[in-house]
Formats: sequence, C-alpha cells, structure tokens
Amino acid sequence: MTSSFVMSGVTAATMDPTAGPGYGLIQDAAIVVSGPRIAWVGPAAELPAAHAGLEHRRFDGRLVTPALIDCHTHIVHGGNRAREFEMRLEGVSYEEIARAGGGIVSTVGATRAACEAELLHTALARVDALIAQGVATVEVKSGYGLDRETELKMLRVARALARHRPVRVRTSFLGAHAVPKGADADTYIDEVCIPALKAAQAEGLVDAVDGFCEGIAFDTKQIARVFEAAQSLGLPVKLHAEQLSHQGGTALAAEYRALSADHVEYASDADAAALAAAGSVAVLLPGAFYTLHERKIPPVQAFRDRGVPMAVGTDWNPGSSPLGSLLLAMNIACTLFRLTPAEALAGTTRNAARALGLKDCGVIAPGMRADLAVWDVAEPAELSYGIGINPSHARIFAGET
Ligand code: NIG
Ligand code: FE
Repeated sequence: MTSSFVMSGVTAATMDPTAGPGYGLIQDAAIVVSGPRIAWVGPAAELPAAHAGLEHRRFDGRLVTPALIDCHTHIVHGGNRAREFEMRLEGVSYEEIARAGGGIVSTVGATRAACEAELLHTALARVDALIAQGVATVEVKSGYGLDRETELKMLRVARALARHRPVRVRTSFLGAHAVPKGADADTYIDEVCIPALKAAQAEGLVDAVDGFCEGIAFDTKQIARVFEAAQSLGLPVKLHAEQLSHQGGTALAAEYRALSADHVEYASDADAAALAAAGSVAVLLPGAFYTLHERKIPPVQAFRDRGVPMAVGTDWNPGSSPLGSLLLAMNIACTLFRLTPAEALAGTTRNAARALGLKDCGVIAPGMRADLAVWDVAEPAELSYGIGINPSHARIFAGET
C-alpha cells in the first residue's frame, strides 16, 4: 500500500545536478513522499504547511540517497567459474581461457542446461543481495544463451524478477556476447543473433541492445549490424567496449548515440570526446578490472574534462566479475580508478539512471519516483569508504517500505 508521509530528521544527498557538483546535500532535511512519487524535498524548517499534517517518519539524522541503480549486470546465468579463478591465479589469462573454450562459452553450457525455474531461483538470490544494499533498479543482460531459445529464456527470467521482488528491471539483449563453439561469427550474427533479437522484441522482452566488441568476441562491423537491427526496432543500444584492448567500439557506440559504453579501460581521449558529443554515459566496471588483474585504468580525467557522465556497475557475472555488492564496486572505483566518492554515488544513482535511459529516478526531486535508500552513516563519503560493510537501514521502493 502506498501512502503519503514525510521523512524527517534526515540528511538528504539529493544528487540533484541543478544543486551544483557534489551530493546536493541538504542537512536537517524533510522529504515528502506522495504515493509512488516524491512531492517535495528541502530543509525541514521550510516544509510547506500543506504537507505538515502528514504522518512524520523520523530517521534520527540518517542519510537518505536516491535508491541505488546497478546499471550493468549478468545476474541471470547458470553455474559458476571458480575453476577459472584458480587458473588465472596460476597465470592463465582471461583471453587464453576464453580461446580454449572456457569463459563466457562455458557459462553458456550451464545456462542452456538450466530450466527457467532454476535460473529464476539463483537470480532472485542475487537480486536479494542487491536489494539488501539499497538497490531499487537492476539492469539484466542476456548473452549466455547464444541461441534463440536460451536468450529468450534468460530475458523472461529477467522480467520475472520484477514480479517476484520489489525491484525495477531493465533488460538488455546481449546476443552478440560471444561466438558459440564451432560457429562462424558472421553467420552467427546474421542467422541467430539478429533473428533472436527480433523474436525477443516481439515478446516485449527487450529494453536495450548490447554487444561485446573485443578480439575474443565481435568486431565493429558485426556489432554495427546488430545496432542497425536495434535501430530498425526502435531500441537504444549500449556496448561492452574497449575492455581488454582498443577495438573502436566506443566510437561506434557514439555513432549510434548509445545510452552507454561500458568498461572503456582502453578508451582514448577522442573516444571520450565522441561519447560527450553523443550524450552517452561511460559505465565503469571496476569488479572486472579487479578480478582480471587489469592494469589499464579507464581515462577518468578525460571523461571529466569532456563532461562525459560516469556510472558505476557491478557487472555481476560468473567469470570476470563475481561481485555482488554495488557498494564495493563504488569503493573499488574510488580506490583503483580514483573516482571521488561523490562521483561514485552519482555513478550508482543519477548517471546509472541515464545509462538505462531512465528519467524518473536517480535523483531526489519533486516528481521523481520515491525510490530511496536510508543509510546508517553520517556523511555520503562513507558509502564508498567502507569495504565489505553494509550500512543499509531501509529502502523505499515506489513509496513503499
Ligand atoms: O562484462 N566483457 C564481456 N562480458 C562480461 C564477462 C562475462 C563473462 O566472463 O562471463 C563482462 O565482463
Ligand atoms: Fe558485462
């Protein structure tokens, strides 16, 4: 049941960009929640008389932020790849494992073998872990099917998550994630991936179209064909680009006015300029960087200088980023990529919303969804500072606790 109430005795990190850089912090704030929306936010002393008579819920000085948004995950998948973790520690690289038939393709086997109920069961446990850390919106990709049936199965499970839990799900079709064993990449794109995309769209399963542009996956020409198909279906695109090497994926993504280019460790200054011109978000995925012992950090300063919005995601997947904590992603982004804690929080709220094409969340402002996170911390930098600590006190989802 949604109702109207005033959250009082809070510090609000509104993340409102119109309040200038930083957190848009309001001390001694009040937030008016009216049904599923925010009706008012400001200093408690200025609460309009019209709202004063509503139920007041007191939060003893706790911090309130927009609920977090994980804008890049692969949480629907079968199996795990702990053995590959051991192999990498023995000195075998992610690319070598992939070329030897492990990596993404090995998760494809496990995901094809799992029924919808099994996939839903394991994905719900992952969603629960994210919700417990103040997350209200999760992006979920397909990409471990690489055939029509399994790609659609993954997306159906992704949609089902939002029917089983108070969470908003945005799906990305990622048929161009890897070349299936024994297949020709071009034939796969034209005869399997694009027809599967059309079938998934016809079932209403797709919010955006993603791909993996890399030496071990697809080149820019192949991804461009997928993007053309997306465009003809009226779907926005995003891309795993410049993760392990520079392949030109970021420039391609910008050409198609992508919602985001993700990973982008090897992006150049020219790529940053192209993203800025296209209005695309750079999604940083420090969990994969950390897991794969990468050395090349993304060009964060170029993104800042060019005004490219930066988001931060978990990239939760069984191979390159078995990371089930968005707060830890924020911490790693600060420590290894040198984001400021304010940038990390913008990256999991305002800019993450933008990376998903959402305009109604990620900021505490009148008219926005009342998706809010209440934290047992005194100041917002603590959210990035803690390592393996979960200070979540409460979460409000579309006005409901
Ligand atoms: O985002 N880069 C490609 N895709 C995933 C990796 C998936 C996997 O290793 O299973 C990523 O890191
Ligand atoms: Fe990914």
